[in-house]
Amino acid sequence: HAADAHRTDLMTITRFVLNEQSKYPESRGDFTILLNHIVLGCKFVCSSVNKAGLAKLIGLAGEINIQGEEQKKLDVLSNEVFIKALVSSGRTCTLSRKKMKMQLLWSPQSVEVFDPLDGSSNIDCGVSIGTIFGIYMVKDDHEPTLADVLQPGKQMVAAGYCMYGSSCTLVLSTGKGVNGFTLDPSLGEFILTHPDIRIPKKGKIYSVNEGNAKNFDGPTAKYVENCKFPKDGSPSKSLRYIGSMVADVHRTLLYGGTFMYPADKKSPSGKLRVLYEVFPMSFLMENAGGQAFTGKQRALDLVPTKIHDRSPIFLGSYDDIEEIKALYAAEG
Ligand code: AHG
Repeated sequence: HAADAHRTDLMTITRFVLNEQSKYPESRGDFTILLNHIVLGCKFVCSSVNKAGLAKLIGLAGEINIQGEEQKKLDVLSNEVFIKALVSSGRTCTLSRKKMKMQLLWSPQSVEVFDPLDGSSNIDCGVSIGTIFGIYMVKDDHEPTLADVLQPGKQMVAAGYCMYGSSCTLVLSTGKGVNGFTLDPSLGEFILTHPDIRIPKKGKIYSVNEGNAKNFDGPTAKYVENCKFPKDGSPSKSLRYIGSMVADVHRTLLYGGTFMYPADKKSPSGKLRVLYEVFPMSFLMENAGGQAFTGKQRALDLVPTKIHDRSPIFLGSYDDIEEIKALYAAEG
């Protein structure tokens, strides 16, 4: 019976990735091992995020615990957990750490870029936050260098995020579609719940920090105006903005529409970081049938020059991004 099969044939994320990998006889299993360690990091952060409110309530935060260690802030903790999980995977040997928020780790086979806890300013009010990651393979013939990371996003072999929300959801693409897995806390396993996510071709939602409107460039201002006062007689769009990229992108993937962090007069490159925010999310969008555009070009064609480079980003439903591209083209 189909319903029973659904309940008892549990497709865990590990089983799913192993299935995928078995299609490539040359694969050495490195990716599965790496992903298992990322998944472990996500489970740990999920459990810490769930306890964060409670820890605060009973007065643990910022105080000395029994072992005499100062209670770590959640973002610092997440950072350490991912570094240790990835290093212990044995698939990662060196790390470069310029700024606490973002990590780069590399091994002879791969480079991982990740933002361990994105949207951390939302922690205290219980809004969804997430981990974002991207993986590049590097050639075996040399020791990896920074140049192996400063590659266009289209060279990524996998990308994903884990959202710590009302449930813990891990969304992953290895370049052939996008799949979503939800953590079953009683099993401690991520189970395939959103197979083959396809973003609707056109959406009814736009998502942007409209508080920055006075600094928007022409095409962004026009697009936002069109969302509110459509000239073709179509209904106006709904505005949804959480201010936590993982949650805003997750909604956009599932419901369609656009998510934007445009350039503005104050920040000509926008706010979001190319390597570990813009690239992984653009990779997922394209793999789900949507588009990601910088205002000038396809986002995945960007070539970063520094690891903390920023870029404006417009991503979402195919038709909606076409509309934004046309507005930029008209601007010349
Ligand atoms: P932070 O990790 O400092 O909370 O930043 C979150 C990021 C991203 O998740 C979100 O899309 C964006 O910043 C929101 O920025 P604004 O507050 O400027 O809208």
